[in-house]
Amino acid sequence: MRHLISLFDLQQSELQTILSLGEQIKTLLERGVRPPLLARQVLAMLFEKPSLRTRVSFEAGICQLGGTAMFLGQEVGWKSRETTADFIRVLAQYTDFVVCRAKLHSSVQELASFDRVPIINGLTDLSHPCQALADLMTMRQSGPDLAGRQVTFVGDGNNVSRSLALASAMNGMKFRLLGPREYFMTDSELQQISQRYPNADMLQSEQPEEVLAGADFVYTDVWTSMGQEAESERRKRDFAPFQVNEKLMRHAASDCKVLHCLPAKRGEEITDEVIDSGHSMVVEQAGNRMHAQKGLLIWLALQHGQLSAADLAAEGIQLS
Ligand code: CP
Ligand code: NVA
Repeated sequence: MRHLISLFDLQQSELQTILSLGEQIKTLLERGVRPPLLARQVLAMLFEKPSLRTRVSFEAGICQLGGTAMFLGQEVGWKSRETTADFIRVLAQYTDFVVCRAKLHSSVQELASFDRVPIINGLTDLSHPCQALADLMTMRQSGPDLAGRQVTFVGDGNNVSRSLALASAMNGMKFRLLGPREYFMTDSELQQISQRYPNADMLQSEQPEEVLAGADFVYTDVWTSMGQEAESERRKRDFAPFQVNEKLMRHAASDCKVLHCLPAKRGEEITDEVIDSGHSMVVEQAGNRMHAQKGLLIWLALQHGQLSAADLAAEGIQLS
């Protein structure tokens, strides 16, 4: 059974197929066409942390494809009322996919380990693969071939930047991280990517001039992720020199695009001038969450025999 716990679960060609499916579905939606490819399929959404984009884009996405979604918050008692084994073996009988936002990455891995229903990581402390799918789709909007282009993430080695680093390696992009050294991705995290993708071009720096000059995209995220609230004051002090503002952006090319996974803390990691500038793609980026995840759901349905290439062809969608 296929799951998406991390982008390491995908081959490069599979990632391209998911993005292509999402892009074709997006084009159809823009023409007012909503093919019912996942008719009567059910998506469970198991969330331990708050969400706007992930929750609503998955629910809207599967509804537009003819399926339905159900939100499962604390009251279902995951980890409190019964064992995870009992929980997921039961849930798998009612549903076709589960998207899970968990405090701990190991919790999502544990759900997948039972192999009863495809599990999708909707963000953990370690990674955010669905965000990376939308990030790639957004960057492809300014030219489909990402190879050789550079994304500079300003912030810490967190769930979003780890997934972006891996997504960059899978697409031949240069990945740069700008921030305080003590918040860099670890050597072992970088090595894990390099082992799988030996040509991965990754560099972390505290010097804006070193990593912003060649950037096609500058990306940032909150300084304090969900669950790190106790470190908030220290992080505000440590990251203050790395605020993405007009002065910092002077190190980048004038046509450099700006990305942010949102939600943003305006006035902290990014200023209004930059996030609202003509170079900002953040609103489309959030919109692409839904399109990219539709690509993912369709691809998972194909893997599990719930959908065929002929079903797609009947709607004018090609499998690349
Ligand atoms: N970017 C993102 O995952 O947003 P939410 O936390 O609102 O889902
Ligand atoms: N790094 C942030 C991303 C939110 C989408 C967090 O984990 O809170």
